Amino acid sequence: MNMKGIVLAGGSGTRLHPITLASSKQLLPVYDKPMIYYPLTVLMLAGIRDILIISTPADLPQFRRLLGDGHSLGLHFTYAEQARPEGIAQAFLIADEWLAGQPCALVLGDNLIFGEDLSAVFRAAAVRPEGATVFAYQVRDPERYGVVQFGETGEVVDILEKPVAPPSPWAVTGLYFYDARVTEFARAVKPSPRGELEITDLNRMYLEEGSLHVERLGRGCAWLDAGTPDSLLQAASFVQTIQTRQGMLVGCPEEVAYRMGFIDADMLHSHARRLGKTELGRLLRDVANGVHA
Ligand code: TTP
Repeated sequence: MNMKGIVLAGGSGTRLHPITLASSKQLLPVYDKPMIYYPLTVLMLAGIRDILIISTPADLPQFRRLLGDGHSLGLHFTYAEQARPEGIAQAFLIADEWLAGQPCALVLGDNLIFGEDLSAVFRAAAVRPEGATVFAYQVRDPERYGVVQFGETGEVVDILEKPVAPPSPWAVTGLYFYDARVTEFARAVKPSPRGELEITDLNRMYLEEGSLHVERLGRGCAWLDAGTPDSLLQAASFVQTIQTRQGMLVGCPEEVAYRMGFIDADMLHSHARRLGKTELGRLLRDVANGVHA
């Protein structure tokens, strides 16, 4: 069964007010691209081509305008509304019919994950036939996230949502892979005290039946979320540094589509032409001409 993918790009973005009072967080620029390009390319690197974009009723038309039906990237996009931000796990209830019982990856629309050989790691998670896979990353402020608690032999004991006293520095990133039972599990999630269907509760269900895989992302990887003014600026600086120093693109769907074999060099050249005189267009032309390995 082919895995499908969801980009969850709704929410209220209150930590970015007033910027997000009138615009969607996930359409804000991260250096030279809209934020949603970064999580979108993560799904593409996992080999996923059938993608559901979920956002608020007010913002969904803009995502459609930006991304279209996906054919020029060799993808297929579908759009769905989340009427109110009632939790990340709600994505699977919204996606239920579209998923039609297929396995699914979910990525949060404000997450950027970058590192050598991550495509192989993501593809391995995408073909795992049963259970769920999440990724853990060491951070200095784990209390902002779901946090993994490890036992004495390194086994996963629990995952705690925004714990006041984090049991480890390992935060769960916003990229999750689930088997075909995900909607069934999501239906069993009860709203938390803050009134949300928590993704941590869904992950705990897989943990309790012994089928949750937690992959640790090491030093060679960058995981950033762009939900606050500081992290938005840091994400932009990170992308700028890699792109201007190495001439390599970060989070560019046109490039990833080409490298994954979803589109050919002619299509990539046409994307580069569309981007005109921008540096992004020039870098894409280099990729189409085989300048970078
Ligand atoms: P959060 O950063 O937890 O929430 P938020 O984006 O609403 O921001 P803030 O805390 O500043 O108010 O959400 C993480 C990601 O998940 C983000 O990309 C928004 C998305 N999201 C939804 O689309 N729907 C939801 O119901 C929730 C809870 C989050």
